[in-house]
Formats: sequence, structure tokens, C-alpha cells
Amino acid sequence: MARRVAIGNNKGGAKKTTLTVRLAEALARQGKRVGVVDLDPQGNASRRLGWKDDENNPPLTTSEAIEENAEGVAAQVWQPIGWPHPFAERITLMPARYTLEDRSPEAGKVGAYRRLAKALKGADDHLDYVLIDCPPSLGHLTQMGLAAAHHALASTDPLFDGIDAAVRYRDFVNLSRDDLANPTLSFVGIVVSDYDQRLSDHVEQLRGTRTLFGDQLWGVVPRRSAISNADGAARSLTDEPNSSEPRAVFELLAERFIKEVSL
Ligand SMILES: Nc1ncnc2c1ncn2[C@@H]1O[C@H](COP(=O)(O)OP(=O)(O)O)[C@@H](O)[C@H]1O
Ligand SMILES: [Mg+2]
Repeated sequence: MARRVAIGNNKGGAKKTTLTVRLAEALARQGKRVGVVDLDPQGNASRRLGWKDDENNPPLTTSEAIEENAEGVAAQVWQPIGWPHPFAERITLMPARYTLEDRSPEAGKVGAYRRLAKALKGADDHLDYVLIDCPPSLGHLTQMGLAAAHHALASTDPLFDGIDAAVRYRDFVNLSRDDLANPTLSFVGIVVSDYDQRLSDHVEQLRGTRTLFGDQLWGVVPRRSAISNADGAARSLTDEPNSSEPRAVFELLAERFIKEVSL
């Protein structure tokens, strides 16, 4: 079984998807085999990884994997990403489109919160890590992600509401692991992204994050247009001009990730 990490925050725009995609890239650069589960109906991770939907012949997505309610069904859903070698061989995707929202009303069905764990059972043995890109809520979809994960990692921007929402995510993990039938789930860290050291509020909020999270603060990703450009263009940072600095930052984060998320 791969080590599975749910990347979350109880707020949109908290750089969750950027962290998911760039960690996948950095881990793949180190030769790791990574699965990305897009658990957000916005499907941003899927698009940024270069995956393309096909209206005429719609591929299976996270939504169908969950709806199926069958052990190991994820094995049929992993799909290639659109990035070139070496990422094409090392990163595999469970994509999402907006219809993933249709799974939310099924929360009341017996055992529904275990459905992603069930879908992944035996279906990620060929991978080192699975990164689960959670939606901004702490509702049913995120609960399925947390029930399937070994670890939870928070992402935030350096602003009060994002950090506050990261604390809610951490506290939710700590309060809910037993209710999610996942008693060994552990909160492992937080990454602050889009940091601009010229902004006094960012400096102040980063200080606050250190106080709140201590050495669980893994690192800080500076605000760089190379990152948003690569996200917009659905490219790897490796293929993005002027990206050596942010690439090095994500490589350090990947090293911390490997240390914390033991195989
Ligand atoms: N370090 C950064 N520098 C500049 N832009 C960033 C950085 N990190 C993320 N972004 C941009 O911020 C926006 C929101 O990030 P996103 O990952 O989509 O947030 P979330 O998934 O939490 O909603 C995206 O357009 C992304 O490209
Ligand atoms: Mg997102």
C-alpha cells in the first residue's frame, strides 16, 4: 500500500492544489511513483497535471470510483497525466470533474465515508505515495479523503483566515480520526505558500503560524509568478522558465515529506 496523504484546509485559495501538484512533481523528480487523487469537484489538480476530459468518451473519475462502492475499484480509474517524461511514467491521476459534487448527498449511506479507502484498497500497491487534493470544506468529500489517508498535511496562504482554517483542519483531524475509523491518522505538518516578505502582514502571520504549529511548519514557498504561470499553463515547473528557485523550495519540501511520511 502507498503512503497516503490528504492535503487540506477549510478554505479555498489556500494553495492546496498547488502544493499537491508541486509535491507530486518534486517527488517524481526524485524517482518516486506518485498517485494524485483529485477529490475536489473543481478538478484543478486534474487540469494542472495536463489531464483532458473527453465529453464523447468520458473517462472514469474519482466520482465513479466512489459511487461504485467496491474494493480496489481505483485500479480501473488511474490515468496518465499530460506532462511529458519523466512525469508521465511516475505520476498517475484519479481525475475529477464537477460531477464529483454528486457524491456529497450520499454521505448518509451506511459506511459512505469509507468509500475512497475501499476504492484504493489494493489499488495503490504499485505507488510510493498517494496525494489526495481535498476540497475546501470539512464535509463528506474531505472526510472520505481523511478516512483513506495515513497522514494529513495542511496548506495555507500567509493570511489570517487561511491559517485559522488550517487550524480547523488540524483540529478536525485530531478530533475525528476515531469517528472516521482511522485511529492512526496523523496530522504531520503545514506549508505556507505565496509568501511575500515585503508585506508586513505576511511576516506577522508567518510568525503566528510558527507559534501555532511549531516544528510542524515544514517550510515557506515564496510568491513567484513561475508557480502561477505553470499552474495556469498546466505545465511542470521543470518546463517553466525562471523556475529554479521555486523548484528548489519544493524539492526541500519533498525531502521533508519523505522523512515524515515513512514508507
Ligand atoms: N507560491 C505561489 N506564488 C504565486 N502564486 C501561487 C503560489 N502558490 C499558489 N499560487 C496560485 O494561487 C492560486 C490559488 O491556489 P490553489 O492551489 O488553486 O488553491 P486551493 O487549491 O487551496 O484553492 C492559484 O492560481 C495558484 O497558481
Ligand atoms: Mg484546489
